[in-house]
Amino acid sequence: MPPQPHPVRASESGNVPRHVAIVMDGNGRWARKRFMPRVYGHKVGVEALVRVVQSCADRGIEHLSVFAFSSENWKRPSDEVSGLMGLVLVAVSKYLAKLAGDGVRIRIVGDRSVVSDKLRAAWREAEESTAHNTRITLSVAFNYGGRWDVVQACRRIVEAGTPPERIDEALLASHMAMSYAPDPDLFIRTGGEVRISNFMLWQTAYSELYFTHCLWPDFGDTELDAALAAYARRDRRFGEVRDSAPVLAVAPHAEG
Ligand code: IPE
Ligand code: IPE
Ligand code: MG
Repeated sequence: MPPQPHPVRASESGNVPRHVAIVMDGNGRWARKRFMPRVYGHKVGVEALVRVVQSCADRGIEHLSVFAFSSENWKRPSDEVSGLMGLVLVAVSKYLAKLAGDGVRIRIVGDRSVVSDKLRAAWREAEESTAHNTRITLSVAFNYGGRWDVVQACRRIVEAGTPPERIDEALLASHMAMSYAPDPDLFIRTGGEVRISNFMLWQTAYSELYFTHCLWPDFGDTELDAALAAYARRDRRFGEVRDSAPVLAVAPHAEG
């Protein structure tokens, strides 16, 4: 891979989020509307993801983190779970070379201890072959839960024999699974549900939340740009008072 120049990123100069997190929800309903099996919705959802990574990179977003399989998704019917596992393997073999060539660095976050050796090997390959890319970092949360993340961070801190008085927010943050990324500026959930469903609980303390009814396989540039435009209009105060804050109230919960 030739060295990649560091472009001037939109996120360094404008109102573009550095880090976007997405709960890619609605694949099952998208498939059902077409009288297709749910796993078909997941397959088309992967294609949407590959497009959205490119769109985010084009807009100067540095980190895209997506929720692909939650700690709770094991409760689904076994054929859907095994279909999803198989789909990850297919997705890696089908799209890894393209993503790597497009300058995407891939990271997988979540508990790998319970997935198959094959899947672990595919992830290792995805991470190692893209480790030097710098255009955008795609973090795929798989067998991930925000609560799991806090627990694994605490465990590692305790295992290191850290005295309690040294434990503070910065130390905990440095042990979270995505400590290499800034906290998400913009948190998007597709599919119409208005909840977090255990994604990045620690890191989203001050994220701007954006919910859309668009089902994930239909999510594309129009929806992404609508979310980015909504983000650009938000007044992020982080607990401060700002006289410039608009008096008006905000929009209904689902903007899309
Ligand atoms: C999200 O889509 C993808 C995963 C959880 C793997 P869903 O499968 O939850 O789709 P809906 O919400 O049932 O439509
Ligand atoms: C959240 O979606 C998890 C992923 C998108 C991977 P779910 O469909 O599992 O969430 P709930 O069950 O509606 O809360
Ligand atoms: Mg769902």
